[in-house]
Amino acid sequence: VVLTQDELKKIAAYKAVDFVQSGMVIGLGTGSTAKHAVDRIADLLLQGKLNNIIGIPTSKKTHQQAMSLGIPLSDLDTHPNVDLAIDGADEVDADLNLVKGRGGSLLREKMIESACKKFVVIVDESKLVSHIGANGAMPVEVVPFCWKFTQQRLQQLFDYAGCMAKLRTNGDENGDPFVTDNGNYIVDLFFNKDIGDLRASSDAILRLAGVVEHGMFLGMATTVIVADGEQLEMGGN
Ligand code: A5P
Repeated sequence: VVLTQDELKKIAAYKAVDFVQSGMVIGLGTGSTAKHAVDRIADLLLQGKLNNIIGIPTSKKTHQQAMSLGIPLSDLDTHPNVDLAIDGADEVDADLNLVKGRGGSLLREKMIESACKKFVVIVDESKLVSHIGANGAMPVEVVPFCWKFTQQRLQQLFDYAGCMAKLRTNGDENGDPFVTDNGNYIVDLFFNKDIGDLRASSDAILRLAGVVEHGMFLGMATTVIVADGEQLEMGGN
């Protein structure tokens, strides 16, 4: 049997939910893979196999999904200690560094996933890369105020990597700017060369006034579950 990509995402999501135990505060990810994990948690609650779960949604969309399924929800203000977060990713490298945010939810994801004890990432094999940033957009959330100026500065920062910085829009290139859950814009960075040191790149982006956050999640994932059965742990094996 050949499984569809969505079935593979579901397999990874279900495996991740095996880490969930009753009484936990759980960061609920965003995207087509994380959606399966949220569905699964709701099923297990309904079946009485899990109880006393509190979900912390990483986006308005996930909030909506989890609420409609009856998962009790809270936020970081009330529950700052998150036991476990489960989320998808756009790219994963061999050191478990991630690119996230192609769905636009990077800021809330990063706030919640950097506050959790264990962060389990669920992907299908297509997300595995040798260098992050090599395979599509690196999203940067920016304030709307003079976004063109910020976009320009981001592009200049990575001039050495052949960077193209583009404002994310709804629909085609002339569409309205895509607006995040936090009322900000997204500038997507496309590189045609390796950006080199990731920490240095991250720091440089965050030093620009006008930038809110970026989609590089460095040293945050503790476990990556790949749909075909592989499980990668932080610290390597
Ligand atoms: C949302 O902003 C992202 O960070 C998602 O977690 C990421 O885009 C993965 O989404 P899929 O599981 O839909 O590929």
